[in-house]
Amino acid sequence: MPISSTTVTQIESLISSETSNVANMANVSAHLMSEGKWHWVGFYTVDFSADELVLGPFQGPVACTRLKRGKGVCAKSWEDNKTIVVPNVHEFDGHVLCSALSNSEAVIPVRYEDKVVAVLDIDSENFDDFPEEEVNLLERIIQKLELRWVG
Ligand code: SME
Repeated sequence: MPISSTTVTQIESLISSETSNVANMANVSAHLMSEGKWHWVGFYTVDFSADELVLGPFQGPVACTRLKRGKGVCAKSWEDNKTIVVPNVHEFDGHVLCSALSNSEAVIPVRYEDKVVAVLDIDSENFDDFPEEEVNLLERIIQKLELRWVG
């Protein structure tokens, strides 16, 4: 079952009175993971000085620490400033494999003052596991996080 708008409301209230980016990313990850649907849920933040992505708060197995420009789904979402849904990660050219159990993936950029500052990355063990309605709800959750973001 896809997540529902209740999840959006719950997460909104979870982060509404906190201004720490790390605390909010941690609780968004934990809440989404508690849906019990996904293999890995977490954030990569943009390391502007290194010009690459670095692992942020997450739930799930140990993951790759740094992701370089031009390689992988997260970097593409960052560089293109758009949501990317990959129904079969094995068919995505340059996909960075952090876990052999991941088969589909969705990545949503987090923007602050029009610049991507982080991405939400979700991995599923099922193929084609991100229906459009669910991606729309995930984007709404990220909009809530953007409203709380401290630059
Ligand atoms: N698969 C991602 C790397 C991050 S992990 O999935 C947690 C990518 O291709 O960017």
